[in-house]
Amino acid sequence: MKVYLDNGATTKVSDEVVRAILPYYKKHYGNASSLHDFGAKAKEALEKSRKIIAQEINADPEEIVFTSGGSESDNLAIKGIAYGNKKKGNHIITTKIEHPAILGPCKELFLEGFKVTYLDVDKNGFIKLNQLKKEISDKTILVSVIHGNNEIGTVQDIEKIAKICKKKGVYFHTDAVQSFTKEKIDVKKMNIDLLSASSHKIHGPKGIGFLYIRKGVNIKKMLYGGRHENDKRAGTENIPGIVGFAKAVQLDKKLKQIKKLRDYLIKRIEKEISDVKLNGDRNKRLVNNVNISFKYVEGEALLMHLNDRGIAVSTGSACSSQSLEPSHVLVAIGLKHEDAHGSIRFTLSRYTTKQEIDYTVRELKKVVKLLRDMSPWKKGINYEAKEGDHHGY
Ligand SMILES: Cc1ncc(COP(=O)(O)O)c(C=O)c1O
Repeated sequence: MKVYLDNGATTKVSDEVVRAILPYYKKHYGNASSLHDFGAKAKEALEKSRKIIAQEINADPEEIVFTSGGSESDNLAIKGIAYGNKKKGNHIITTKIEHPAILGPCKELFLEGFKVTYLDVDKNGFIKLNQLKKEISDKTILVSVIHGNNEIGTVQDIEKIAKICKKKGVYFHTDAVQSFTKEKIDVKKMNIDLLSASSHKIHGPKGIGFLYIRKGVNIKKMLYGGRHENDKRAGTENIPGIVGFAKAVQLDKKLKQIKKLRDYLIKRIEKEISDVKLNGDRNKRLVNNVNISFKYVEGEALLMHLNDRGIAVSTGSACSSQSLEPSHVLVAIGLKHEDAHGSIRFTLSRYTTKQEIDYTVRELKKVVKLLRDMSPWKKGINYEAKEGDHHGY
């Protein structure tokens, strides 16, 4: 049996999406900027797709800027606002639990002389609104807070966060790559100025995403060339990708079914395996995310043994899973390094079945037992790691 429980990393492209895309490779392959009929057909598909995507977050179509994915959208938001508002200030506020696509540009800007504040989170992964209020100064130009966390699934109250930013006259950006279509988002009601999303997390194609930029937001473009995308991002539009993204948005439903299976998986693990801990908030979490620390085992070993049994999961975010450092998100919520190393993320999709979850729990029980039987870290045996001891086993 093959069980794919790594939908936070990427998803399978649905059949309906593949069918919607194909004509735009084979027949309507024009450049949306061309003046002939081929171009007009592409342009028509582009604007129709833009409208569908805008509607999903209650934006106006002109406010959607297509990009190559979540990483580009995050980079454009952070750097574009920083460079576009340098005269106003040089201070950016973000959190300790952001995706590297936010942390990376923030670090670069810091090296260029910008000031960056990283907000703490509590043990469930929520930022503290009082800390945010305190940190905003007259030099602050942007606050960027992830909506649904890619590792622990915690969903922040972005409406409250955005309200604070609006009151202080500071732009608010949210990385909604994991939450888009899974959580209700209304950019107007919620006062969101910028929002990143990506197609390959919702059964759409890879290499396509968007940045929502509220009308009137002062942002500097990062890619120069033609005047595509409202002159905010140059490059011939990826029409098949955009058409597929819009189709995926229309299809990404069945949230109740996913949530039910998520809770079933959590319940069974907690009931049938000892010494486990759910990471992230139990209630305000992404419908498809389960992140569990298994004491006395090593996450990578667990992952490989599950892989041998046909089950795909991840340790930490896809990008950091090849590093030996414990996940910065798990450390930020206060996990000891050895517990962070023993954490596994299971991310479900609308294609996940109960049979797959039953099989996963059955194999997981066997693997955890196998690894714990071998582990010198078993209960009572020198379990406590020393401070700063990253890889004690
Ligand atoms: C929260 C978050 N932001 C950004 C990204 C990057 O998106 P993309 O893979 O489309 O570049 C990811 C992907 O894992 C993510 O989970």
